[in-house]
Amino acid sequence: MKVTVVGAGFVGMTCAQRLAEQEVAEDIVLIDVLEGRPQGIALDINQAAAVEGYQALVTGTNDPKDTYGSDLFIMTAGLPRKPGMDRSDLLETNGKIVNAVASYIKQGSPKACVIVVSNPLDTMVFLMSASLGFEKSRVVGMAGILDSARMAFFISEKNGGGIKDTRCMVLGGHGDSMVPVPQFSTVDGVSITAMLPESEIDEINTRTQHGGAEIVNLLKTGSAFYAPSAAAVAMAKSILRDEHRLLPCAAHLDGQYGLSDIYLGVPCVLGKNGVERIVELDLDEAGQAKLNASAEAIRADLETLVEKGLLAK
Ligand code: LAC
Repeated sequence: MKVTVVGAGFVGMTCAQRLAEQEVAEDIVLIDVLEGRPQGIALDINQAAAVEGYQALVTGTNDPKDTYGSDLFIMTAGLPRKPGMDRSDLLETNGKIVNAVASYIKQGSPKACVIVVSNPLDTMVFLMSASLGFEKSRVVGMAGILDSARMAFFISEKNGGGIKDTRCMVLGGHGDSMVPVPQFSTVDGVSITAMLPESEIDEINTRTQHGGAEIVNLLKTGSAFYAPSAAAVAMAKSILRDEHRLLPCAAHLDGQYGLSDIYLGVPCVLGKNGVERIVELDLDEAGQAKLNASAEAIRADLETLVEKGLLAK
């Protein structure tokens, strides 16, 4: 298996590290436009293998040809947010990067699956998919697992621990309009609605929606990378090992949840063909209304991409 991580920033470099340590692929390529950085990180990870004992080789490169023949890409390239910025502020800069990367994926790895991590996530995954022209199921965005992981941590704090058994469901866009769904969030099968008072659940939902910004504000430069890379690598494993895990991801909707022609966070089964199945949850009216609002916010960003000439109408 050959996996390419695009972008050697913090998310990309921790993705490469996790892929190597967990031996998800033997051949891992880390590509970036910055000269020296991916090469340096690759050397460092390869040398750590002598201590950790994993069998994987990371190649750092600036040359797209080195990515050819990849089975899977994790696209992390793009600018991160600065404090006070919205993910949508990154539309134009990151949109250009996505289009440039799509052209070499299409050229050299026409059978690959692509996991998009770059922000604003729901628009960048749509753009990647449109630019590639692959089956939509082979292009998927990482956000729901990250948002659900944040929610799980906040729940475990309230419960006094037990994060391992806490599984959450966050749907919709990876922005302030994301939709935490408490009734489908459980601790070992028990809904959190049976475990926590409504006021605490409301607090958890709000903190989850702003979970990325909370970290951006603390770091001051850059954004989160440990949980984002863990989430992207979980998706990579489910695809490459055909694990069929049910994970919330940004998938292309074709009528599911009453929405079409959009990428949005929904529960997906990930296997060797990418998104093998989208699961439709029975949402209450309020939940569906929130999901629709989230879709509207994404459509507004897609419109901006069209206006800027980055996405064909
Ligand atoms: C976050 C960024 C990666 O949510 O969107 O931390």
